[in-house]
Amino acid sequence: MEVGSFFGSSAAFMAVEIANSGKAIRFDACDNFTGIKRENVPKDDEWARYQQAMAEAGSLEAACRANLARVQDYVTVRAGDSLDLSTNLSRRVARLRVPR
Ligand SMILES: C[S@@+](CC[C@H](N)C(=O)[O-])C[C@H]1O[C@@H](n2cnc3c(N)ncnc32)[C@H](O)[C@@H]1O
Repeated sequence: MEVGSFFGSSAAFMAVEIANSGKAIRFDACDNFTGIKRENVPKDDEWARYQQAMAEAGSLEAACRANLARVQDYVTVRAGDSLDLSTNLSRRVARLRVPR
């Protein structure tokens, strides 16, 4: 389970890795889709790109789902709070941190 999938770029990478592995791995990309706040984005151009991508897709969730459409067999997008969504997970969960 990925927490905070945002536009889905890390999830897309992971889904391709899962596809290439040939293993049956369940992968949930989770986000409550509240997005990010202006004060957490120091660069103006970065904030402008974020706003534009949101406007083009209609919402952060729509953008994420559209970006992951081509790998939908390997990742399930789940909208909701990470704590709520994690209660349905089994005990056998791989934890992975993708460095930026
Ligand atoms: C900074 S972005 C993550 C960036 C992403 N990991 C990447 O590499 O592009 C943080 C994301 O976490 C989501 N988020 C924040 N609190 C959350 C929560 N409690 N449950 C699920 N998602 C949450 C926000 O909606 C936002 O999309």
